[in-house]
Amino acid sequence: MLPKDTFAGRVAVITGGGTGLGKSIALELARLGADVVVTSRDLAHLEPVAAEIRALGRRSLAVQCDVRDVDAVRSAVRATTDAFGKVDVLVNNAAGNFVCPAEAMSANAWRAVLGIVLDGTFYCSRFFGEPMIARKSGVILNVGATYAWTGGPGTMHSACAKAGVHTMTKTLAVEWARFGIRVNCLVPGPLMTEGASSKLFPTPEVQKLVTDQVPLRRFGTPEEMATLAAFLCSDDAAYVTGEIFTADGGAWLNAGYLEMLAKMQAVQIPK
Ligand code: COA
Repeated sequence: MLPKDTFAGRVAVITGGGTGLGKSIALELARLGADVVVTSRDLAHLEPVAAEIRALGRRSLAVQCDVRDVDAVRSAVRATTDAFGKVDVLVNNAAGNFVCPAEAMSANAWRAVLGIVLDGTFYCSRFFGEPMIARKSGVILNVGATYAWTGGPGTMHSACAKAGVHTMTKTLAVEWARFGIRVNCLVPGPLMTEGASSKLFPTPEVQKLVTDQVPLRRFGTPEEMATLAAFLCSDDAAYVTGEIFTADGGAWLNAGYLEMLAKMQAVQIPK
């Protein structure tokens, strides 16, 4: 969709960039010309992605960073600016989630997910934002969730954290517009990635239950999300900020009993 040199000369940082959606976004931005820093708690995940990015002819840095740890985030910012001198794009992709009923959720479980999703998005925006503010230019893309709007039974920690991420997106978009920084949020529907599928959709039976609720009747792909992420981070979206952009096959609009009526009509009035 975008020309190959869309991000030429730009530096992008992708948290959780070693696997799944983050890896797809990292590779897409590299294909479109960006030098890319990937961060994760696990360096072993990162090195192969950094090697793939270098094979595309871009520069890449793999930085170990637990986004819950503010000192680790500040070190990652230093490593990035020491290596590349600036930050043009930050994608706050790092996330943690697992299914657990609220009545069984320990304080530590709550804290782990809130720490990664909500604190991590704030710490990275706050400190990768510093070099953006200094240059009066930058783009931040967060990753949200539709259950931030509907409630997320079974994933209360993630739903509450993602609601905070949506609010942070809108708040920072307004606060940091004066620094030439755009802030948006991509909201994917169900994706079959290593992280999400093992935690959320572990069996074919569960996967079918999920796709039965998606009007387009399938999971999204990380590549589809990466294309949208690249658009939102590109100059083609230069007037888009504070936007929560959903790509979920219509899943969150699935209207419960109304959809059931539509299905019944389709059965009763054959074409
Ligand atoms: N059900 C209930 N509680 C769980 C759980 C589950 N499936 N998985 C973890 N927990 C609890 C732990 O028991 C612990 O609480 P406790 O100390 O009271 O026992 C707490 O959560 C923290 O777990 P721990 O494994 O120590 O944390 P961590 O920091 O190593 O891992 C997680 C963070 C839990 C979010 C882990 O799932 C993770 O690293 N996820 C990253 C990948 C991911 O989730 N991707 C999906 C994105 S959609």
